[in-house]
Amino acid sequence: MVMGERGLMSRILCPKFGGYLTFGTLEEGKVSAPGQPTIDELISLYNFRSIDADTKVFGIIGKPVSHSKSPKLYNRAFKEDGVNGVFVHLLVDDVNKFFDTYSSPDFSGFSCTIPHKEVALARCDEVDPVAKSIGAVNCLIRRPDGKLFGCNTDYVGAISSIEIGLQGSQNGATHTGSPLAGKLFVVIGAGGAGKALAYGAKEKGARVVIANRSYDRARDLAELVGGQALTLAELNSFHPETGMILANTTSIGMQPKIEETPISKEALRNYELVFDAIYTPKITRLLREAQEVGSKIVTGVEMFIGQAYEQYERFTGLPARKQLFRDIMADY
Ligand SMILES: NC(=O)c1ccc[n+]([C@@H]2O[C@H](COP(=O)([O-])OP(=O)(O)OC[C@H]3O[C@@H](n4cnc5c(N)ncnc54)[C@H](OP(=O)(O)O)[C@@H]3O)[C@@H](O)[C@H]2O)c1
Repeated sequence: MVMGERGLMSRILCPKFGGYLTFGTLEEGKVSAPGQPTIDELISLYNFRSIDADTKVFGIIGKPVSHSKSPKLYNRAFKEDGVNGVFVHLLVDDVNKFFDTYSSPDFSGFSCTIPHKEVALARCDEVDPVAKSIGAVNCLIRRPDGKLFGCNTDYVGAISSIEIGLQGSQNGATHTGSPLAGKLFVVIGAGGAGKALAYGAKEKGARVVIANRSYDRARDLAELVGGQALTLAELNSFHPETGMILANTTSIGMQPKIEETPISKEALRNYELVFDAIYTPKITRLLREAQEVGSKIVTGVEMFIGQAYEQYERFTGLPARKQLFRDIMADY
């Protein structure tokens, strides 16, 4: 049994690997060793009583990762669909060492988040062409021959929720084409999510601008999508036209630093719609201020649900129960 956040999986996967017992606390925080989950979490969140030697293990690799709602979503869906699987948080420092260690077919699929999406792509044996163009994977499947296949579902999740937000309906792209076509689409950030948004916006016919803390990365991504690069400092005075779209894909404003924002409230007046990939909190300062100046907003929760549909289908081969996913995430 391993202690702390890194050891949580050893506590949850105990019945799969022949462990005699695990520890669960009666109340959150009242632990006898670091990292113990509550009994309620073991039973209700991780379906602990259903875990056996045949259970397939899925998980989200990231650092930090404990904020992720993925275990809540997928474990509930596994239960509803009768899938013998369990989904855990995987706090990972080094992606390559992680995959060297957890190479058995028991570890069947992974979601991938900050900051590992690009390194994870390099580790895949095969990569979906869209993910290759984006340069980042957020979903990895271990095939029966042990090889890793990587793809990117962030792209579809984010872009479709922005299209829906623009049109105010559940059918973002219409037969007349995407509402993003011809728009000026400003992406803040040039990491995995930034690349997915930039690639997706370009695919939909938008003109793309990238603003990033590291200007070199903004420039590289802008070159890739045929767009313009800015520094973060230039963002506040960038208003070549009105009716633009803004997408924050950095962690600025994420818990616990919820009072941070990547752009001034005043500058938000030029944006018809503002999207924030962050989903903890659901309404970031950026989105609150965008609402206050009259822009439409789309939350990271919408993106999260959208990207999770496709991941679930790839993990299980079953259609995602979209309403169930929305209901589970409704509390956030
Ligand atoms: N809603 C969803 O479903 C969903 C899906 C994916 C990601 N996300 C969210 O999107 C965010 C980015 O994820 P990612 O996977 O793209 O991460 P990533 O690949 O590590 O990229 C992080 C980006 O944020 C920038 N950044 C980080 N800290 C910063 C700071 N203090 N000030 C300014 N810029 C900063 C980085 O700039 P540099 O290039 O200068 O380092 C980089 O552009 C995270 O908050 C993640 O939770 C949400």
